[in-house]
Formats: sequence, structure tokens, C-alpha cells
Amino acid sequence: MAIELKSSRLVQSIPRSGIREIFTLAETLENVIHLEIGEPNFDTPPHVIDAACSALRSGATRYTSNAGILPLREAIAARISERTGRSVSPDRVIVANGAVGALYLAAVLALERRDEVLIPDPCWPNYLGMFRLVGAEAVRYRQRPENGFLPDLGNLQELVSSRTKALLLNSPSNPTGSVIPMEKLSGLVEFAESNGLYVISDEIYEDIVYEGEFASVLECDYQSGTLCVSGVSKGYAMTGFRLGYIVVPDRLVDGSRAVIESVAGCITTVSQHAAISALSGPQDGIRERLSAYRNKKQIVLDTVGDTGRLLGRLQGAFYAMIDVGERVGGSMQFAKDLLQEKAVAVSPGITFGADWDHTVRISYAVADEQLRSGLKAMLEFLEPQGGN
Ligand SMILES: Cc1ncc(COP(=O)(O)O)c(C=O)c1O
Repeated sequence: MAIELKSSRLVQSIPRSGIREIFTLAETLENVIHLEIGEPNFDTPPHVIDAACSALRSGATRYTSNAGILPLREAIAARISERTGRSVSPDRVIVANGAVGALYLAAVLALERRDEVLIPDPCWPNYLGMFRLVGAEAVRYRQRPENGFLPDLGNLQELVSSRTKALLLNSPSNPTGSVIPMEKLSGLVEFAESNGLYVISDEIYEDIVYEGEFASVLECDYQSGTLCVSGVSKGYAMTGFRLGYIVVPDRLVDGSRAVIESVAGCITTVSQHAAISALSGPQDGIRERLSAYRNKKQIVLDTVGDTGRLLGRLQGAFYAMIDVGERVGGSMQFAKDLLQEKAVAVSPGITFGADWDHTVRISYAVADEQLRSGLKAMLEFLEPQGGN
């Protein structure tokens, strides 16, 4: 008799992202405007593609060391020093499978079973799965549009328990587009240090900031407790290369290498060479793409700004949360109906947290015309008679 083997309860308990659910549904339809998936609508820069091709031709087809090749770790360290004014040893840099892989590594390094990690509300849903995989519990801290979607120290302090081990920060933020200024960031890092918590900082959108300067946790003094994650996916339009990294304190370097050895061996060799080219080659593309995103942000402001539906200020990344009101079936049903009726895909707010079921998130990293028509169609769907 055949025995039916099931996946573990742990795997069954991993929450799935509503972004992916809508994306998968949208794939079954034609001519859909995709405002749900968050990835740059630009091609990878040609010099990076050239570098990848020539690396392959010159034999970059073998394993590398667990932490990644030294020239890449040096390029990452050089970029960090240039941006933060602080030097970081390449030894502290560990190359990972995208920022996702780097975040998972952070979770494995910092958390034990039943530990608590403070995560933003609303937040990118993938954090939940990775913390679940290490047996930790995610506790949400408040971020509200009326406070610029920034963390509130009073609220954070109330949430700390004897089990709290880490504070996760995400600036620029997915899904809110908020950016934590340096003054606020220092306060958050001090809070973490005084409560003996790790800071896991997801800085994957660091290249996409419209107002003021980007502030990194690597500029703060608490380096012994800081795990800083970034990568080339968003800034360099290289999502498919799956190349991210994490900067860890010296004492966690060996452990990090051991984890990579266990789960990946090493990161795709050709991607490592492509990332050297991205980080060390011409940087004009970053400015050009930023300027294009800025125009797209303006399209969002021009289209939705006056409706009173736009939440927060769009200071970074390429996301906006839009209030669609309380609806029967909530934001998931709304996203499905909008997709069926107007062929516009958006992410349901519920996937970013239970309190956000009256919202949807759009990614404005799409062609300008698509963005205009997608937003117009959504507003028509919301207000069919042109009423308020
Ligand atoms: C907040 C946030 N962190 C991390 C990632 C993952 O980046 P990567 O593609 O480098 O794994 C994403 C991707 O959407 C993201 O939005």
C-alpha cells in the first residue's frame, strides 16, 4: 500500500505572499498591467551583461569560497566605505543568494527557537516565512501613515519581552516608501543596543531615495550587534542574478561561512563576477534610473495624490500604499476583482499585515504609460460614477 508522505508541519505553516498569489493569477490572463510585482522595469546594464559573459568564457563556472570571491567582497567593502565614511573589512562581508538569502542568514545567526523578532507593520511578507523557518516569532511594531510610516520608539519599548532578540528595520521601505532619517535611525539603534538586541537592517532599496540622504546602520556605532543586508537586485536591475550580501560582526564571520556552506555551498559564480562589474563600473545608470523612478512617482502623485487615498510620503523605493476602503472580501477580493474587470494587478494590503486590509500596494516601477492607465483604471473601478 502506498504511503502518503506529507511535508512537515513547519513547511505547511509558512505563510504565502499575497503578491505572488495575484501575480500567478495575472499570468493566466492577457494584457495585464502589472503593478503588483516589485522589480525594476529596466534591463541589467549592458556592461554587466558583458562582464558576466566574459567571466563565463574565462571559466567562472566553478565553486568559489563559501563567503564569496575576495574581489567581490572588496568591491562591496569599498562601496560601503564610500557611502558611509566608515571602513568595513571585506572579511565581514558574506555574499548570499539575493537579499532574501542574506536575511535568512541573519535570522539563522541571530535567533533561536521561540525568540521574538520585532518587525514593521506593515512589512514585506517574506520576513514572516524566514523567521518561521528558524522557529522564531515575529512581533509587529507600529508604523502609521500619520507618522510618515516611521517606527515609534515608545511602541517598540512596550513590545520588548525577555524573549526579544532582534529588531528588523527596512529603509527605504517596502511597502510604504518611507525612509528612516539618520537622527531616527540612531535612536532605533540605541534602543536595540540598550535592550541587548541585534539590529537586522534590510537596506536593499538604498539606491532609490528621492529626498535627503540615505542613512545606513553601518554609520552607527553599534557594529557588534548589527547585521546589515543589501545587494545588487534593485539598484542595478539585477533581480535574476540572485546576488545579495550581509555585513556581520567579526565574531559571526565563521558561523556565516558555515551556514552558507550548509545551505548553498557558495553563491552562483557568474553572478559574483557580474556584481563586481555593477559595483565597480560606471555608476551613472543608478542616477538615470533614480530620475526615471522620480518621474513615475510624480505620475502617482498627479493621479492619486488629490484623491485622499495615497498613504504616507513617497520618499524611497518604488512602492505606494493606496487606501481602497473597507470592502466585502477585503483587499484580496478587491485585487482579484480589479484584475478580472480591468486587467490591473495590485498587491492586496492584507499580505503586509492584518491592519492593512483596506489598502493595496502598487509598484510604480513600470513603463509610464502603463502606470498612468493602470492607476486610472483602478480609480475608475473604485469610483465608477466619478463620485468621491
Ligand atoms: C524589502 C525587501 N527586502 C528584500 C528583498 C529581496 O531582494 P533580493 O531580490 O535581492 O533577494 C525584496 C524584494 O522584493 C524586498 O522588497
